[in-house]
Amino acid sequence: MEIRAERPEDVEAVRKIEIAAFGRASEADLVDRLRGAAFTFSFVAVDSQQIVGHIFFSPVAVEGECADDLLILGLAPVAVLPDYQQQGIGALLIRNSLEKFARLGCKAIVVLGSPEYYPRFGFVPAKEKGLQCEYVVPDEAFMVLELEHGVLDSCIGTVEYHSEFNNLE
Ligand SMILES: CC(C)(COP(=O)(O)OP(=O)(O)OC[C@H]1O[C@@H](n2cnc3c(N)ncnc32)[C@H](O)[C@@H]1OP(=O)(O)O)[C@@H](O)C(=O)NCCC(=O)NCCS
Repeated sequence: MEIRAERPEDVEAVRKIEIAAFGRASEADLVDRLRGAAFTFSFVAVDSQQIVGHIFFSPVAVEGECADDLLILGLAPVAVLPDYQQQGIGALLIRNSLEKFARLGCKAIVVLGSPEYYPRFGFVPAKEKGLQCEYVVPDEAFMVLELEHGVLDSCIGTVEYHSEFNNLE
């Protein structure tokens, strides 16, 4: 299993994975819109030359008190083809990306998702770090991971995703 950066020719396969995993086109459409609207990071999992998983990141802003130059990324979405789920591919995509971002100088990652899944990668409820989500969500579903210990100590505020997320149903 290879994890690599998405290439232009992967876009259609990525779209199919998002639709198959979520059973709807909303996440695929979001990814397509964000690619043109923000600087984003997109990685794919490749098995025997077939793309079977995808993970996507876009920058978020903190409305409140936080250093302006603190790069925080939002993880969304992550998807694995249904036939390939439960085999560690999602975990591989997440761990591989987190290692890359730590090396690139990204300071923290937020995610809105299952509190059963993300804590195994080190994510904690964002509320514990003084951050809340701009959307009305259960506290435990909005999580953050510091890539540099203590980097969020001076942050208090509301995390805002790119406005394209407002169109996600
Ligand atoms: C979520 C997803 C990316 C995980 O990828 P994966 O390759 O199947 O996951 P892994 O094999 O790395 O991990 C499997 C574990 O994740 C858990 N898991 C998978 N999907 C989950 C979900 N939506 N909520 C909570 N836990 C989930 C499994 O129960 C399993 O737990 P265990 O290790 O305790 O048995 C994949 O299931 C998927 O594409 N789901 C549909 C899209 C989706 O819901 N994306 C995430 C939105 S938060």
